[in-house]
Amino acid sequence: MSTAAHPDTPPAAHPEAVFAASWLELRAAADRAARAAQLEERLSDWLRSRPPQPPRALRIVDLGTGRGANPVHLASRLPGPQQWTLIDHDAGLLARALATCTSLRSAGGEVVAAQTLHCDLQLPASAFAHADLVCASALLDLVDAPWLERFAASCATAGCAVLVTLSVDGHWRFAGTPPTPPGVAAEQTDDDFVRAAFNAHQRRDKGLGPALGPDAAAALAACLRAHGFTVDCAPSPWQLALGDPAQARLARALVDGWRDAASAQCPDAHARIAAWHARCVAERLHPGVVLEVGHLDVLGLPAGRASRAGSGP
Ligand SMILES: C[S@@+](CC[C@H](N)C(=O)[O-])C[C@H]1O[C@@H](n2cnc3c(N)ncnc32)[C@H](O)[C@@H]1O
Repeated sequence: MSTAAHPDTPPAAHPEAVFAASWLELRAAADRAARAAQLEERLSDWLRSRPPQPPRALRIVDLGTGRGANPVHLASRLPGPQQWTLIDHDAGLLARALATCTSLRSAGGEVVAAQTLHCDLQLPASAFAHADLVCASALLDLVDAPWLERFAASCATAGCAVLVTLSVDGHWRFAGTPPTPPGVAAEQTDDDFVRAAFNAHQRRDKGLGPALGPDAAAALAACLRAHGFTVDCAPSPWQLALGDPAQARLARALVDGWRDAASAQCPDAHARIAAWHARCVAERLHPGVVLEVGHLDVLGLPAGRASRAGSGP
């Protein structure tokens, strides 16, 4: 395990691109349960079925590592040995991720090594030159369209696989609560108003250009296809059963976050948003209700190798 120095000190992180370790911990179990397992299996098959490589560890780059959710989840599902490079602008989170990786093993029980790169995600085109896989989770909504284009082009040049998981798709709903009364047009409901305000807030610049927010996963899929990748998308929604105390805590944090972001986006509608929040807490955050929050996972396999692995579009 090691920490690599980056030639440049990362610029100060944008305040809306800084994530508390406690938030990442709160969402970790829901993330693990939501990930689209079929994409991980397909990736693993592809990695195993590639033409023989010189004996070396699989090289995996994880963007926006945070506390290390991706290596923790993926290492044991992928063949090994593995060499992970964990990239983030938050040195504290990187240190936690590195410590966590010491105990990881691959699917076959082989060594999983890790190094960290403390830098911004405005990476040079050569950043993935030797990678077999580039992955990211819960990150993509922060980037803009030119970033995605550069990312897809770099990965195509490297001939590496891409797995980007848990990107929000902008949808959520409370299942198990009374439906909207007949006669109320969907666009007039407070849910739709708050959702639209939150999604607009997500599109603000978080340090990587005007963010794509809920459109990012679909945009990534299109970029990868344009660069010859075979692309699979699969839903990975959170299904938060509010009878479970941990899932109820996550749901409450979400509803509070939606209120705060919607109010910041539409300050003139603060009273409407506050009333929506109060009703949510009083009438919806109860055992028996399931809060569904939409996410998408995207797997891209580079053209030549994908066809050898027998995976169709
Ligand atoms: C929502 S967290 C996801 C963390 C982790 N992948 C997970 O699934 O739990 C997004 C991560 O991206 C990092 N990040 C955001 N913008 C960044 C940037 N411009 N450069 C480097 N890291 C960034 C944050 O520090 C944070 O760790």
